[in-house]
Amino acid sequence: MIRLLVINGPNLNMLGIREPGIYGRYTLGDLEVMLRESFPEISFTFFQSNHEGAIVDEIQRAYGVMDGIIINPAAYTHTSIAILDALKAVGLPAVEVHLSDISARESFRRHSYISAACLATIAGRHFEGYREAASLLIIHLS
Ligand code: DQA
Repeated sequence: MIRLLVINGPNLNMLGIREPGIYGRYTLGDLEVMLRESFPEISFTFFQSNHEGAIVDEIQRAYGVMDGIIINPAAYTHTSIAILDALKAVGLPAVEVHLSDISARESFRRHSYISAACLATIAGRHFEGYREAASLLIIHLS
């Protein structure tokens, strides 16, 4: 069974409440249900944190335990060399996801430090982006 770790970064625990015009009305719990129902053959582990170091720790814990990572680093996308380095350190196939189209928003959202460690970046597809990320990883790992 393929084991995928889904990491969501800061403020994504507020999905459903947070800027619904940008991020939608569904919650993080809804995302987890949607992924488990869409891919019953995959073993998912879900992790959310508002803290950079906790995300680094979780990526390190995935080494030898998980087969791939889906990550929405949220605001850390645009700031975190530590998360980039953690992904490179464990060397697991990873796909970066953003609910919104970060290329069409403020200029400070246009650069991602994380994409250099990812097979692909999917942005602006809302929850569907996570499903596409899982499909990409399944193809990559099969
Ligand atoms: C986000 C985009 C980031 O710029 C922002 O800081 C987030 C969410 C997205 O999913 O669209 O928190 O990663």
